[in-house]
Amino acid sequence: HALSQVLSSLLQRFLQKYGYLGALRHAPAGTARASPAFSCREFQRASHLAPSGRLDAPTLQQMGRPRCGTGDGHSQDAWARRGRRWKRYSPHGAKWHKRHLTYRVVNRPPYLPPRELRAAVRAAFELWSNVSALVFWEARDGAADIRLAFFHGDHNDGLSNAFDGPGGALAHAFFPRRGEAHFDSDERWSLRSGKGRNLFVVVAHEVGHTLGLEHSPVKSALMSPYYKKLSKDFVLSWDDVLAIQNLYGKPSKGSAIQLPGKVFTHFQDWSMDLSDGERQQRSLSAYYCHSFFDAITADADHNLYIFKGSRYWLVPASGNASDPQPLHSRWPGLPAALDAAAWSQLSGKFYFFKGGRCWRYKGSVLEAGFPQKCSAGGLPRHPDTALYFQQLRHLVLFKGAKYFVVSEESLHVEPYYPRSLRDWAGLPAGTAGALRHRDGFLYFFRDHQYWQFDQAKLQVVATGMWATELPWMGCWDANGGQVLF
Ligand SMILES: *[C@@H]1O[C@H](CO)[C@@H](O)[C@H](O)[C@H]1NC(C)=O
Ligand SMILES: *[C@@H]1O[C@H](CO)[C@@H](O)[C@H](O)[C@H]1NC(C)=O
Repeated sequence: HALSQVLSSLLQRFLQKYGYLGALRHAPAGTARASPAFSCREFQRASHLAPSGRLDAPTLQQMGRPRCGTGDGHSQDAWARRGRRWKRYSPHGAKWHKRHLTYRVVNRPPYLPPRELRAAVRAAFELWSNVSALVFWEARDGAADIRLAFFHGDHNDGLSNAFDGPGGALAHAFFPRRGEAHFDSDERWSLRSGKGRNLFVVVAHEVGHTLGLEHSPVKSALMSPYYKKLSKDFVLSWDDVLAIQNLYGKPSKGSAIQLPGKVFTHFQDWSMDLSDGERQQRSLSAYYCHSFFDAITADADHNLYIFKGSRYWLVPASGNASDPQPLHSRWPGLPAALDAAAWSQLSGKFYFFKGGRCWRYKGSVLEAGFPQKCSAGGLPRHPDTALYFQQLRHLVLFKGAKYFVVSEESLHVEPYYPRSLRDWAGLPAGTAGALRHRDGFLYFFRDHQYWQFDQAKLQVVATGMWATELPWMGCWDANGGQVLF
């Protein structure tokens, strides 16, 4: 009973935050105007779920998905009329009265290289100017019509707009003519495919709000409240294009130009391009400590290998991390931005996974027949984490809510797998990597957190922040009282 009360107040807060409760002036005549069940049904309809009006499992799951923090309230009128003809509108017809607008990136997470960040933001604005009569200029300093900024937690936008750390609301923006978009600085942002939150698609979406666009009920729209995935489709759907042209007209020069979403997935392949100033400020070895990584593993001598982009760091048992090394210097032929890595105690070999393929190295030598299409053997594409698990004497791959036990010889999934992650009591889905430490525990990592797993009890026994609480991760700088961005 207590739990159901907690859940129902959680639902109420959620519906309020996103404008489903209290904004019911558009409710059809005869419906109970302030009824949470009605609001819940509206939210379910907008999220393409069965409109039960109750907090069922799919609804709870939907509430937990990362999304835009800007409310859906104003859009409901349009959404409620789905099935009839609906049109999108901007609240109070808010729009800019000029076609030439300036923008500025006010601050940035220190781990995002400035050049790539500027390129991504420019492309995000270009998406909209390429299909409308708008023109944008970057203002390097001074006043700008539209300002993009990263904030931590409560940042004076009202408590319901406070950022909530990784997941949940990732960003929000204001309608014209306030000209502000805010991004949660506690997310692990990325400007390439692979791990981390894709900043490009979030910037492009939030810029849409600053121009006056509401959330779209169309699932494939950039302006859908749940950020779209970049694929071979165009980033803007017909719905986005109609909405912006409705406010600002068609482009003056010829026809609208659109590129497939895949083009925008690799602004950044992290390289050594930190500026000299940044190099002095912060030792390079600690770079991964201030960010997130792609994969991690440990070998027989308890050396840690931490992978990010096209580099890796080696942290020996002493805890002093090496400088970042190019991946190919040790594992020739290995691609950048790995999904998962594991060192096997059984064979002494390194395994790497990316997409549907896998690589196996003995020392620095890629074994014959590799890379292999491992997805053909039933292995998941884009695994979250790989681990050699001594208890089973097998490799284990984790992907979402499932895990797969894999034979090292055949690289096929063993019978009766995959199974539910529930077997690993207390372990969250979507970890970035795992390793066995010399203390005998397994450690799993996700964003800035770790989970310590007892192999005998088969359960998580502790959790915390890895950069500051696990000295063997080599983050001396992070321990030195520096703020982790
Ligand atoms: C906008 O159009 C130009 C060509 O006019 C093209 O080069 C550019 O890549 C387009 N930008 C985006 C983000 O689609
Ligand atoms: C690690 O590096 C620090 C700073 O350079 C040094 O003081 C310390 O002695 C080193 N520790 C080991 C075990 O090498």
